[in-house]
Amino acid sequence: MSETTEKKVMLSGIQPSGALHLGNYLGAIKNWGARSEEFECFYFLADLHTLTVRQVPAELRRHTLELLASYIACGLDPEKNTLFIQSHVPQHAELGWVLDCYTMFGELSRMTQFKDKSAKHADNINAGLFTYPCLMAADILLYQPDYVPVGEDQKQHVELTRNVAQRFNNLYGETFKVPEPYIPKTGARVMSLNDPASKMSKSIPEGCVFLLDKPEEIQRKFKRAVTDSDTERCVRYDPAAKPGVSNLMSIYAACTGRSYAEIEAEFDGQGYGAFKPAVGDAVIETLRPIREETQRLLADKAYLEGVYRAGAERAGAVANKTLRKVYKKVGLLPR
Ligand code: TYM
Repeated sequence: MSETTEKKVMLSGIQPSGALHLGNYLGAIKNWGARSEEFECFYFLADLHTLTVRQVPAELRRHTLELLASYIACGLDPEKNTLFIQSHVPQHAELGWVLDCYTMFGELSRMTQFKDKSAKHADNINAGLFTYPCLMAADILLYQPDYVPVGEDQKQHVELTRNVAQRFNNLYGETFKVPEPYIPKTGARVMSLNDPASKMSKSIPEGCVFLLDKPEEIQRKFKRAVTDSDTERCVRYDPAAKPGVSNLMSIYAACTGRSYAEIEAEFDGQGYGAFKPAVGDAVIETLRPIREETQRLLADKAYLEGVYRAGAERAGAVANKTLRKVYKKVGLLPR
């Protein structure tokens, strides 16, 4: 249904609310790269979404540029992928408002992320935090994508997007493509290194490996990673009985491409003492080129500006087509 190309369309985004971490990389970006031959790809920085939680303005600007540099350093070639900043394409906020009016209070109340974030920021449960999934639905539906590659925690929002798209299509006829979430086999839910019951997130920095962490820092975090208190002390994949080791195994699998059986064989007869630094080394080697390239790109602000300007232009043209169609269907008088 994409009107710009014959290729299938892929779209995703990340909030520049802090430094990028291993969960964002393994759960999302790693799964985006190297698909530009097969798909028409749109990847954006969800800066409007970050406003649902208070940000320090100068840091938000810094994180936004840093994230753009990391997108490119992770292999997203701006010539082959449309990379842009959400607030530079005003159609996101405009369609977001329309979709607010086609999404039910009850649906939004069931969103896990809303419940989690309202518990974490009890002094700032603002309306944006509540309607955030409508803006996310707009981010997606504007580009008529076939697939939305995300980590496990965003699946619920993509499912809501599908429901809203179907509701709108039923009322007004085929308007939006109904997209599929695209979840990676390994790395879809990377857990915190110091609490395997919580997902890795920047809000628990000790258990979180940032893409720009130095190798010594990464190794320190892995050596301190919480393993399990079972008596067996062997490297075996069993998320229910051994959540800490299983989390480390899934990180190792995602970084090395090895299967769980191969990892079990590799560390057979060795305790956690040998395994944890091996995972640290695999992560260090995966992240090293990304860190170096991000830093190199950050020194060239003019290049990054050129990338996001061109990206907003390309994205805006596609977004505008969908928005005009929607405005017409709901009965807004054209200018
Ligand atoms: P955000 O910014 O929280 O996370 C960005 C991506 O990283 C994935 N992710 C993880 N994957 C595995 N393990 C983890 N511990 C982990 N933590 C984060 C997320 O699943 C996500 O894919 N609402 C989105 C941003 C967004 C978006 C969109 C995404 C806004 N509009 C449209 C796709 C399409 C968010 O807050 O992701």
